Amino acid sequence: MAKKVRTLPKIPGVANGLGKGRDSATIAIYSVKGGVGKTTLSANLAWCAARSGHKTLLWDLDAAGGAGFLFGIDAVDAKPAETVFSRDRSPEKLIRSTGYDNLDLLPADESIRSLDEKLLALGKRRRLAKLAAALGKQYERIILDCPPVLNEVSAQVMRAADLVVVPLPPSPLSKRAFDLVVREVSAGGKGHPPILPVLSMLDMRRTLHREAREATPDWPVIPYASVVEQGAVRQKPVGAFAPSSPAAQWFEGLWKAIDLKLTSL
Ligand SMILES: Nc1ncnc2c1ncn2[C@@H]1O[C@H](COP(=O)(O)OP(=O)(O)O)[C@@H](O)[C@H]1O
Ligand SMILES: [Mg+2]
Repeated sequence: MAKKVRTLPKIPGVANGLGKGRDSATIAIYSVKGGVGKTTLSANLAWCAARSGHKTLLWDLDAAGGAGFLFGIDAVDAKPAETVFSRDRSPEKLIRSTGYDNLDLLPADESIRSLDEKLLALGKRRRLAKLAAALGKQYERIILDCPPVLNEVSAQVMRAADLVVVPLPPSPLSKRAFDLVVREVSAGGKGHPPILPVLSMLDMRRTLHREAREATPDWPVIPYASVVEQGAVRQKPVGAFAPSSPAAQWFEGLWKAIDLKLTSL
C-alpha cells in the first residue's frame, strides 16, 4: 500500500526526514553569540517536544547552566557534568527529572567550562555524537543547549546533531550573520547538518526589526515578548504558566514545524 504523504510547513534549508528506521533526533540550538535566545528556545522547544508526547532530554552544554535554571534545577557539584565526557560516567547518573511528563534534563555546571580542552585531549572526535546516539535509545528528542563558542565543542555538536537551529536577533545584518554561522560550521570541510535560522526576539514596532523581517520572509520567527522573560523569573516554560499566550503558540508552532520535518519520510 502506498505510504500516505503529509504536506509539511515550509522550512528553508531543512532536509526531509531522518532516514528510514530512525525515531530519535538530536536538535542543537546554537550560535557563536551569547544573549540571542538559545537557552530560552532550548527550554521552551524541549517542553513543547515533551508535551507532544516525545520522550525528551534537554542537554545543557553551557557551563552557565541556564537551561537547568529555567526549570528551577540547580547543578549538583558532587557529580560534575564533564565526567560524562572524560571519565565515561554514564549520563543516566546525572540526568534529572524536570517534573514535567516526558522531559528530563542533563544539567551543566562549571566543570564543563573546559570541555573544549578535555575533548581535544581525549582525541575522540565523535564523543558527543556517540553519547547522543546512546541516549537516543531512551529519548526520542534530544535538545542541545549550546555554549556560544566555535571550537571542538561546537565541532562535536555539528557531528551529533540532525538539525541545528540558529536564533538570530533581527538586524540589517541578520542574513549576513547567518551566512557567517553556516560558513563557520562548515569550515571543517566535512559537511554539516541542516541549519535552520530563526529570527528571535522580533519586535515589529521597531523599524530595523521590520526591515530585517522583510529581508528574511521565509525564516521562522519568535517575537519579543515580556511573558518569555517572565519564564526566567518563574523558572517555567511559557506554555506551562501562560498556555494561551501568543508566545506559547509561537514556540509550539515552531516545534511542530521542526518535528514534522524531522519525522516525515
Ligand atoms: N522571545 C523573547 N522575548 C523576550 N525576551 C527574550 C526572548 N528570548 C530570550 N529573551 C531574553 O533574552 C535574554 C537572553 O536569552 P538567552 O536565552 O539566555 O540567550 P542565550 O542562551 O543565547 O545566551 C534572557 O534574559 C531572555 O529572557
Ligand atoms: Mg544560553
